[in-house]
Amino acid sequence: MVVGVGAVLGILLGLVFVCGGLLRWNELRYRKKGLPPGTMGWPVIGETSEFLKQGPTFLKNQRARFGNLFRTHILGCPTVICMDAEVNRYIIMNEGKGLVPGYPQSMVDMMGKWNIAAVHGPRHKAMRSAMLGLISPTAIRDQLLPKIDEFMRSFIRCWSDQVIDIQEESKELWLHSALKLIASVETGPLAKDLKSEINKLVLGTLALPLNFPGTNYRRGMQARRSVVSMLEKLMEERRASPSSQLDMLDSLLRPDDPAKPKLSDEQIIDLILTLIYSGFETVSTTTMMSVKYLHDDPKVLEELRNEHFAIRKRKSANDPLDWNDYKSMTLTRAVIFETLRLSTVVNGVLRKTTQDMEIGGFVVPKGWRIYVYLREHNYDPFLYPEPFKFNPWRWMDQSLESNQCFMQFGGGGRLCPGKELGIVEIAIFLHHFVTKYRWEEVGRQKLLKFPRVEAPNGLHIRVSNLLN
Ligand code: HEM
Repeated sequence: MVVGVGAVLGILLGLVFVCGGLLRWNELRYRKKGLPPGTMGWPVIGETSEFLKQGPTFLKNQRARFGNLFRTHILGCPTVICMDAEVNRYIIMNEGKGLVPGYPQSMVDMMGKWNIAAVHGPRHKAMRSAMLGLISPTAIRDQLLPKIDEFMRSFIRCWSDQVIDIQEESKELWLHSALKLIASVETGPLAKDLKSEINKLVLGTLALPLNFPGTNYRRGMQARRSVVSMLEKLMEERRASPSSQLDMLDSLLRPDDPAKPKLSDEQIIDLILTLIYSGFETVSTTTMMSVKYLHDDPKVLEELRNEHFAIRKRKSANDPLDWNDYKSMTLTRAVIFETLRLSTVVNGVLRKTTQDMEIGGFVVPKGWRIYVYLREHNYDPFLYPEPFKFNPWRWMDQSLESNQCFMQFGGGGRLCPGKELGIVEIAIFLHHFVTKYRWEEVGRQKLLKFPRVEAPNGLHIRVSNLLN
């Protein structure tokens, strides 16, 4: 018995010794003059589990210990976390100095080597300019907005007297609307197949790059292959067709300006996937959260309804919305910005260094990742008095939108090219939704804000006709 207790104690002491040694070894491995302060956790896994489990609390604790710029090891990489608004702005604005996007390998594998977030320099310029051409303000005004309007009307038409999961519906809404804008794909078997494969692909972008049967990464790569072959078939059919369509695929296959460089099929496919993927989570989450905040704040909802009824008053029942209507939706725009801020749809963006670099008074070694953590800037009481209150009116002062600390759409050469399109989508949805329906939440809804904003069990609402 005595020997047994001794042996257990011995094993425990041994374990403590080995663990302490491993932690110490891992710290020493990264000790280099000038590095930001911080801890590196365990070999290989670093502090990933603390980061994922405790999220913002972990980051705030580390900030309290080490300051606004600290080092850690998360998601397989030595990483510097930056929570200083000025330094974050500097990092975002200075890609040319060697601060290039640092998104995980799985994302690059799923989205393709031509996806805008994975390319730099002249390749980035070419792909970005092709995308900007498709979603420019003129394209939105003349082609996209009327299609979005028509789509939204029909999409929400049969919601009356239904209980719906607004989280799922918001995803469907973006996906179907994107497929329609990109390739005139209507709701039907092709849209259904694409949706199911794109969902797997999106899960794959967040998975560890482990190519084994049953992993999300393997499923994502298989899904990418089937989406690519569906898009190739669409392109083949489009080329064979004598008539043209007014959509993005046609503009890419038959550009009006022959002087513009033509994209290869591989580039077109990666561009289309980037278009779908980039709006998938951002637009759908903002849509869901705006419904949530409006539900919780009847005063804002009432004012918002007034704004939209004023637009309807100028039109007959079935008149479509136009650019001027959209431009008059000032409170709606403010609701969207406040939703982005308060729910922090984008927690941060990732960069990596292409050489040893001095940042914020420290040296960040070549190849390290930088997590430009944006979340805390959204709750800065100096910029946003009563930061945890849903107060869209603060955005009626237009200068707030261009404030240097508001980086929910990124900045510099990577400023979100889909910003206006995303806002148009959500604004038009809100127009039809608030003028037709009222809604109440069903049951208690759990909401997570980190690492992404989501309702793990869905966000269920009972929808009824406003006029009943
Ligand atoms: C509410 C909606 C949206 C939010 C909050 C949002 C946010 C962002 C942010 C923060 C970035 C910067 C990423 C970085 O610096 O690494 C970004 C980039 C990007 N966004 Fe958006 N986005 C939204 C909607 C959209 C939509 C609808 C599209 C496409 C139609 C889109 C396409 C892109 C693309 C392609 C990039 C990469 C740009 C580049 O690297 O040059 N986004 N977005």
